[in-house]
Amino acid sequence: MTGLFITFEGGDGSGKSTQSALLTEWLTAQGHTVVHSREPGGTDLGVELREIILHRRGYIAPRAEALLYAADRAHNIATKVRPAIERGDIVIQDRYLDSSVAYQGAGRVLDATEVRDISLWATEGLLPDLTVLLDLSAENGRERIAATRDVYDRLEAEKNDFHERVRNSFLALAEAEPGRFIVLDATDPIETIAAAIQTRVVALLA
Ligand code: TYD
Repeated sequence: MTGLFITFEGGDGSGKSTQSALLTEWLTAQGHTVVHSREPGGTDLGVELREIILHRRGYIAPRAEALLYAADRAHNIATKVRPAIERGDIVIQDRYLDSSVAYQGAGRVLDATEVRDISLWATEGLLPDLTVLLDLSAENGRERIAATRDVYDRLEAEKNDFHERVRNSFLALAEAEPGRFIVLDATDPIETIAAAIQTRVVALLA
């Protein structure tokens, strides 16, 4: 018996956590066992790493940042996600290796293939069955974040051109793997997006 691994990706403010919570609720109501996770911070170790990565004052070298995300990912996959998939559960996760390719690769300007390879090593090659990309412009993302809080983490504090590179990288990743990705307009109404995701997941479960 093997379960499913579904990830949500997109820029800051794109509504990933809202949509992953809705999908979790919907699948649970249908009797599925759903495990929710997120990166960074899906495990106890991950919570500590998240604090360092996002809130440490002062500079973190780009390669160190990439390895911290990869360390969080390795532990999350080994101790939480893979055991759940092997039990036959559905794992729904906010962010995964595509975030590293987009943020550390395109954003911090590290080599995208190298960044991806580090994550594949960290996770023993685990790829999601489905990745939902919620596409949003950097400008719209910034407006949404500004509306909900006044303290930005290290990544959110980056300028618009950083976030535009991240967005374009996500779109390129989706184009390269159309079988794995579904790309949705994050400015659509919440229910419209949720319905499109459900349609795709129904097809996956069939
Ligand atoms: P997230 O938890 O989505 O932020 P929030 O809960 O505040 O909405 O992600 C935290 C930040 O980490 C986000 O700006 C994207 C960044 N990130 C990377 O740069 N690389 C990665 O591999 C991951 C997983 C996240």
